[in-house]
Amino acid sequence: NWTPDSFVETTVKELREKLGTDRVILGLSGGVDSTVAAMLLHKAVGENLTCIFVDNGLLRKNEFKNVLENYKELGLNVVGAEAGDLFLDRLAGVKEPEKKRKIIGSTFIDVFDKEASKIKDARWLGQGTIYPDVIESLSVNGPSQTIKSHHNVGGLPDYMKLKLVEPLRLLFKDEVRRVGKSLGLADKFLQRHPFPGPGLAIRILGEITREKVTLLQEADHIFVSMLQEEGLYNQVWQAGVMLLPVQSVGVMGDERTYESVVALRAVESTDGMTADWCHLPYDFLARVSNRIINNVRGINRVVYDISSKPPATIEWE
Ligand code: XMP
Repeated sequence: NWTPDSFVETTVKELREKLGTDRVILGLSGGVDSTVAAMLLHKAVGENLTCIFVDNGLLRKNEFKNVLENYKELGLNVVGAEAGDLFLDRLAGVKEPEKKRKIIGSTFIDVFDKEASKIKDARWLGQGTIYPDVIESLSVNGPSQTIKSHHNVGGLPDYMKLKLVEPLRLLFKDEVRRVGKSLGLADKFLQRHPFPGPGLAIRILGEITREKVTLLQEADHIFVSMLQEEGLYNQVWQAGVMLLPVQSVGVMGDERTYESVVALRAVESTDGMTADWCHLPYDFLARVSNRIINNVRGINRVVYDISSKPPATIEWE
């Protein structure tokens, strides 16, 4: 008879037995899964847990600073690694989605490994892997070859001689949220939308530049904060903005403009494996569109994505 409370109790007990007085390192992403995994491990081993939060330069606006502050509030021992330049330099000129993922995955490992090596005697690597991640990564390596290579599953480079500990491996997202609630986590942690590991890199279609990252951060910030302000955020499973590699003609005053197009994406889902587009109110969409076009220079057109998964995916890359 599964309940979040009993899951916490049993898991913490098992983690204590397994980990003893060993040191554990965990990569935090700001998302629900890694946060709940960190809280469980923290409950089990306390100060022996060190969390590493990497800024890959592809996070949402102000995300690195905000998330770091939130984690400190939770009493977690967090190291922030600012590595945006390294990621963006390595991504320069790269257009192909899977190549972006590979570069981001391997750069993440480099940065993470450098930070982790500063933590002496670490024996374990904690991860917030959940059940759908396990399934999707099996499909990537399995016969179908259809699904994107998620970099956050798939183990470790062998030079990191750490053993994996994944306390959420058998849970679905809604169960993770319930476990988080039972651990006393506030809604600002638990209701956060999922956000892909490669971040805005796979929402900038084609080549990534610093200017495009900033442009997209501004547009995304407008969309997400308006969802929050208007009480729609928690009805949406995941939302974000895609910067298309397309310019279109517009008018601004007496002038013709030739600027970028963004697509808003908001979906309903339970596990990300299938999803339907959200029927957000037209007047809300109109206000988001106006605010983006009036405030973000370089964008003159906003469209709304009305595709379901399958056959589309949630991300555009
Ligand atoms: P798709 O686009 O495949 O996305 O429908 C399903 C869910 O997975 C997220 N996603 C990723 N997460 N690394 C991640 O950590 C990735 O490479 C990646 N690609 C997609 C996506 O945001 C959605 O929640």
